[in-house]
Amino acid sequence: MRIECDSCVLRNWNSSDVESLVENANNYNIAISMRDLFPYPYTLEDGKSWIKITSSQEKNCFLAITLDDVAVGGVGLNLGEDIERISAEIGYWLGEKYWGKGITSSALKGIVEYGFNDLGLERIFAKPLEHNTASRRVLEKNSFKLEGIMEKSCVKNGKIYNQALYAIIKK
Ligand SMILES: CC(C)(COP(=O)(O)OP(=O)(O)OC[C@H]1O[C@@H](n2cnc3c(N)ncnc32)[C@H](O)[C@@H]1OP(=O)(O)O)[C@@H](O)C(=O)NCCC(=O)NCCS
Repeated sequence: MRIECDSCVLRNWNSSDVESLVENANNYNIAISMRDLFPYPYTLEDGKSWIKITSSQEKNCFLAITLDDVAVGGVGLNLGEDIERISAEIGYWLGEKYWGKGITSSALKGIVEYGFNDLGLERIFAKPLEHNTASRRVLEKNSFKLEGIMEKSCVKNGKIYNQALYAIIKK
């Protein structure tokens, strides 16, 4: 799987990505905005197990964001199940030194098109923490609509937060 985007290429993770994965992912400033599933510190073992998980998936839903074929971030579609199988939750992160260059915005454009055109999805949604301005901006730039604020819907590092629910619907 390979998706050419304006500012990056999305492709499957492979075992040789582990060093660049860990180098970019092992960052508190990323982990504080992610699910607890994304660990901090992010160890070599975490990197290996993530690559193993993604390669065992039936569909190509969790992709590396690459620049010159170096994996510098990740973007994924977590597919819904049962009657929600037409929906997916999108997740993404990027190595901090690459922030602010439009890379994730272009990655989202690519994976959203893939989700609608190739995976048969009707709806893609995201739930950034309410205060995660960069993530919300990336969604808004990709025409995701704010559906509401999910008050006190999650807990991170012992603090309770609101999440902002965004979604885009297939045209
Ligand atoms: C969210 C994240 C993926 C964005 O990646 P990125 O490649 O820097 O995003 P882009 O450059 O495409 O767009 C970022 C936008 O947010 C804006 N932005 C960034 N920080 C901001 C801030 N503190 N206040 C206001 N706007 C901000 C940028 O100006 C840019 O908007 P613009 O193009 O209109 O100027 C990256 O910051 C990251 O990995 N964060 C930690 C993990 C995370 O939050 N993941 C999402 C979980 S829901």
